[in-house]
Amino acid sequence: MSAADVPGADAAGLLERVDRGRYRSRSPEATAALGGCLGGVLRAGDLVILSGDLGAGKTRFTGGVSAALGDVRPVTSPTFTIMAVHDSGRMPLYHFDLYRLDDPEQLDDVGIFDALEGEGACLVEWGERFADELGDDRLDLAFRREEGRDADGEPARLVVATALGARSAHLLDDFDARVRALLAP
Ligand SMILES: Nc1ncnc2c1ncn2[C@@H]1O[C@H](COP(=O)(O)OP(=O)(O)OP(=O)(O)O)[C@@H](O)[C@H]1O
Ligand SMILES: [Mg+2]
Repeated sequence: MSAADVPGADAAGLLERVDRGRYRSRSPEATAALGGCLGGVLRAGDLVILSGDLGAGKTRFTGGVSAALGDVRPVTSPTFTIMAVHDSGRMPLYHFDLYRLDDPEQLDDVGIFDALEGEGACLVEWGERFADELGDDRLDLAFRREEGRDADGEPARLVVATALGARSAHLLDDFDARVRALLAP
């Protein structure tokens, strides 16, 4: 794979690999490029939970995942619809935003268990509050706005990936390898 295969790879100078599972993004495009690395290796049945501050970049990251899967439509936050399906890529991407959900009983109604058994992968913003219900083997991605501001007046974003389970450990290895390949000189 070359950097040219990843959407947003032109932003690679603004993406930094701190360590395995720790990445720093200094632009929206770099956040999307990081998502592109995940989209390149995701498989049906994968569960990824995106946690972190409001405006930290979870949706932008998901846009990069969707683009890498081959879906051409822009990704917006499904805050009101709770779920959006992006299904014109190599497999469906089920994108949830559980910000407005407060009761685990509602999880079934929003279709998340069907999606987990579906033919695609699930990315769940604000899913950490329901992590126990969603599944043990998952990749957690925590987004954080760092201290200080870049030249564009925005703080850099730190993304910390934690694999919980054998399957997600494999996913993290593949994802990290993609990031390394993207950033390789
Ligand atoms: N590294 C970055 N530097 C500057 N801006 C960024 C960076 N990464 C993402 N952004 C921008 O930050 C804004 C908020 O991002 P986004 O909507 O993805 O956040 P979110 O985590 O999904 O928020 P919410 O919790 O409200 O759903 C977007 O305009 C996005 O392009
Ligand atoms: Mg969002």
